[in-house]
Amino acid sequence: MSTHIGAKKGEIAETVLMPGDPLRAKFIADNFLEDVVQYSSVRNMFGFTGTYQGKRISVQGSGMGIPSLAIYTTELIKEYGVKTIYRVGSCGGMSPDVHMRDIILGQAGTTDSSIIENTFGPNMYYSPIADFELLDSAYHVAEEMGIKTKVGNIFAADRFYNDEIDTQKLIDYGVLATEMETSGLYLLAAKYHVRALTILTVSDHLLTGEAMSAKDRETSFDEMMRLALNTAVK
Ligand code: HPA
Repeated sequence: MSTHIGAKKGEIAETVLMPGDPLRAKFIADNFLEDVVQYSSVRNMFGFTGTYQGKRISVQGSGMGIPSLAIYTTELIKEYGVKTIYRVGSCGGMSPDVHMRDIILGQAGTTDSSIIENTFGPNMYYSPIADFELLDSAYHVAEEMGIKTKVGNIFAADRFYNDEIDTQKLIDYGVLATEMETSGLYLLAAKYHVRALTILTVSDHLLTGEAMSAKDRETSFDEMMRLALNTAVK
């Protein structure tokens, strides 16, 4: 067992869906997977393994923010041999081109987290990017499903509440939406030579002030889950 995931070797599939919210992990396992086994409840950061269309898939909560996601991602990869991670989550729309409930594929990650500088030092502005095969596949699976996705740059904010950041500048430079994890996920995927893709649903919008309820967030992401799962079995 690893420090933060209470699973034995072999209990986690090579492909993992990773929502931030552990209750969303349970929701995915309960509603989309078959033959489900719960492999972890450490800190209530639930993890499940089941099958989708016959393929073994795990679902693991990451918690909020890069520090939490980095714990689970690192252990999944280093201790359990995970090769492919789909982050499925919610985001705040930033660009006027994205709207509530839109599905966004994270092509690249911008961040004000220190993780880039901690990794590369002060004068190297590394760009964490999605795995192209996963991005390409998800884009085309979405088309087949009749889902129009938006593809672009995601801002992983180090703080949810931050009135000091120049949001407009990020929008001007084409950033589509904000959450708190993608840059960290893509950086770690690059470090350990595994594949990662973030798929997001717009749950609130920074420009319009619209927002979904917590209950809505938990249950209204069916399309995104299906897209992630259909891409995973492709
Ligand atoms: N900011 C950061 N993370 C988020 C947001 C947001 O507005 N919405 C959903 N996750």
